[in-house]
Amino acid sequence: MDKQQLTQLFDQQAPNYDTQWRRMSPINSGLYFFMETILGVLPERAHILCVGAGTGKELLHLARHFPEWRFTAVEPSGEMLNQCRKAVELAGFTSRCDFYQGYVETLPGEEKFDGATSLLVSQFILDQQARSEFFRHIADRLKPGGLLISADLVANIHSDVYEEQLNLWLRLMANAAVSQEDIQRIKAAYSQDVAVLPADNVATIIKAGGFTMPIPFYQAGLIGAFFAHVE
Ligand SMILES: C[S@@+](CC[C@H](N)C(=O)[O-])C[C@H]1O[C@@H](n2cnc3c(N)ncnc32)[C@H](O)[C@@H]1O
Repeated sequence: MDKQQLTQLFDQQAPNYDTQWRRMSPINSGLYFFMETILGVLPERAHILCVGAGTGKELLHLARHFPEWRFTAVEPSGEMLNQCRKAVELAGFTSRCDFYQGYVETLPGEEKFDGATSLLVSQFILDQQARSEFFRHIADRLKPGGLLISADLVANIHSDVYEEQLNLWLRLMANAAVSQEDIQRIKAAYSQDVAVLPADNVATIIKAGGFTMPIPFYQAGLIGAFFAHVE
């Protein structure tokens, strides 16, 4: 999938995105729980860059937890960003947020951020060098020592246990048994359209984008998360 196709896909998914993921909210809650402490070292009035902000889930969580923080949501899908804008408005946080439809590398202005989040975004960049460049663009917009939290689907898709891991993941999402056909279909999609890589590979890719060696801090099902500082 190229960038345009991916944006179209998320434009289509936007109205139902939160409903689709609601069942998996315990996984997000665990991830956000860690993020509170990891990002909690940032200044009281930190400015956070939310890359691939989607419908705004992580932004809203952090905005509630850190009432003085400001946020810039970067999101290529206009429909996802609209959902995000609406949710932020409903929560009463609009005055603390800026919204930009596009990519980090074209984000206007020179402002440097204290921290950044990139949750379930870089996995869509299949080329590993381009994926490191994605992180490089984030690093370029962070202050020296700035903090990144990144999460993606993380697994060794060539390992003997992958099919069982995937089976469990799909059953969790569906809250039901999943047919062999569905498993094979998603397995193909995850190897063609999503770069599901082992944790060590993802860490190396992030590091190559200008960060310290990423620290893995969370793995739940296929979702793995890291934090790292700008080098
Ligand atoms: C799976 S959603 C995750 C949304 C949100 N971070 C969350 O965890 O709920 C991925 C989002 O990243 C956006 N995205 C895809 N490629 C991107 C890129 N190169 N830069 C920024 N955002 C991107 C998509 O449009 C989509 O909204």
